[in-house]
Amino acid sequence: MQKDEIKIGFVTVSDRASRGEYEDLGGPAMQAWIDQALTNDWTPVAQVIEDEQELIESTLKKMADEQGCCLILTTGGTGPAKRDVTPEATAAVCDKILDGFAEQMRAVSLQYVPTAILSRQIAGTRGACLIINLPGKPSAIGECLEAVFPAVPYCVDLIEGPYLQTDEAFVKAFRPKHALKKG
Ligand code: MTE
Repeated sequence: MQKDEIKIGFVTVSDRASRGEYEDLGGPAMQAWIDQALTNDWTPVAQVIEDEQELIESTLKKMADEQGCCLILTTGGTGPAKRDVTPEATAAVCDKILDGFAEQMRAVSLQYVPTAILSRQIAGTRGACLIINLPGKPSAIGECLEAVFPAVPYCVDLIEGPYLQTDEAFVKAFRPKHALKKG
């Protein structure tokens, strides 16, 4: 890994997509959203895995610790069904939970669907990596990211990750004045 390389992890958590029973639409939807949002050069690290807590945890740890991702987005496995364990796995690997992300994502999602409250999605940090859970429905990805992404670049600054820059026409990042890079 090059020192300044920006790596972003995309984890699709789905038994059926991992078995090839249906196409992974969530992974490409997350990547397409980030592609529009960021003006930095970045490299994706993507995986499609089953709804198994240990596997989700080891995937998140590998992406954060070994592959050097500064941001990991997961999609799927956030609901109340028996096999939905993405939030548990995320909580198990995070040092700090950022409750505001989940609060905001659910609040905004409720404007789209009343079932938004069924998502137990969380977000948190592991070292210099921010992990955000998104629901499995591809349309939920943009709905949720739009709601929280303005705070993502400054969060990544605070955990000593790379300086993320956004296309303001797509999503405007907010940083306090002292944290703005000159030039
Ligand atoms: N949030 C948004 N923005 N849009 C949606 O369509 N679907 C909800 C909820 N959150 C939804 C949403 C539904 S129906 C469920 S069951 C939960 O997310 C959990 O989805 P998951 O288990 O696929 O993660």
